[in-house]
Amino acid sequence: RPRVLSGIQPTAGSFHLGNYLGALRQWVALQDTHDAFYCVVDLHAITVEQDPKVLRQNTRVSAAQLLALGIDPDRSSLFVQSHVPEHAQLGWVMQCMTGFGEAGRMTQFKDKSARQEASVGVGLFTYPILQAADILLYQAHHVPVGEDQRQHLELTRDLAQRFNTRYGKTFRLPEPYIVKDTAKIYDLQDPTSKMSKSVPAGVVELLDDPKRSAKKIRSAVTDTGREIVYDPAAKAGVSNLLVIFSALTGRSVESLVADYDGKGYGDLKKDLGEVFTEFVTPVQARVAEYLDDTAELDKVLARGAERARSVASKTLARAYDRIGFLTAT
Ligand code: TYM
Repeated sequence: RPRVLSGIQPTAGSFHLGNYLGALRQWVALQDTHDAFYCVVDLHAITVEQDPKVLRQNTRVSAAQLLALGIDPDRSSLFVQSHVPEHAQLGWVMQCMTGFGEAGRMTQFKDKSARQEASVGVGLFTYPILQAADILLYQAHHVPVGEDQRQHLELTRDLAQRFNTRYGKTFRLPEPYIVKDTAKIYDLQDPTSKMSKSVPAGVVELLDDPKRSAKKIRSAVTDTGREIVYDPAAKAGVSNLLVIFSALTGRSVESLVADYDGKGYGDLKKDLGEVFTEFVTPVQARVAEYLDDTAELDKVLARGAERARSVASKTLARAYDRIGFLTAT
């Protein structure tokens, strides 16, 4: 079976609809066809300052959400990045393979460092290089992510290629797995920028009170027209709602457009609020159950880390040997 690896940051506590539709839904589906490795990337989280208590809690909350959304720890290796020290170790190697200018061209770094008021740490700059190590350690064939990660995957491929050319074939070049329809879910208040936690009013969080989420959906920014049609350029807000509606129900955008012919934006928003509530209510119940027994949750993560390490350590050992490091005896 081909391998798949992906990761998600625990920083926010709750995941949002963009995370789910852009990436996590694919994580769940790919378990059927792939040998899957999924990690909560706590090393990435500390590229911005974290309160230790909050980080610990959010890491468990993240793992609980992944389980609640359908990651099956018997079929997939679900783990916490810091439990597998090979990530940091290969991360260092990859830093030494990366050009300064190359890292500086990462648009997510440019955006994040521009937005951040506190001083920007070097970790934020080298963030995508650690991400490359995450992926390459598992010789992943595919990496399910949203559109915003495409450039990081290109860097990953470049680094793998460079290493292979210099030292001999060591790493598989991974392919991004980006589902076009939901690759970029937009902010409900500003439907020209991607949904992200930095704009609280426009983000729908999985762990928020569904009533509040339904209300956010009802107040989503649309346009002054009245027709419900899919036209991302002219009707970004309505088109975003249609994409979300379609993804959550499995109904095609065309059939939704046909069904809402003659109805108003208000009807669409109200119905989508109900669709979302129906989706998220059982997920929230399962999250609560997983968080109720953190001893069991930690055990699941320990098992995942053990499986991950058995793969990661082999790749790291091979890379170290190729580089010319002495074998520790
Ligand atoms: P993160 O934690 O920001 O986001 C997790 C996943 O959600 C996707 N995503 C979206 N997709 C569609 N529309 C949106 N509005 C939206 N917002 C977020 C992201 O593309 C991502 O797939 N660098 C990664 C974490 C990471 C990783 C890895 C990913 C670390 N190591 C190795 C893959 C492989 C990140 O910050 O994702």
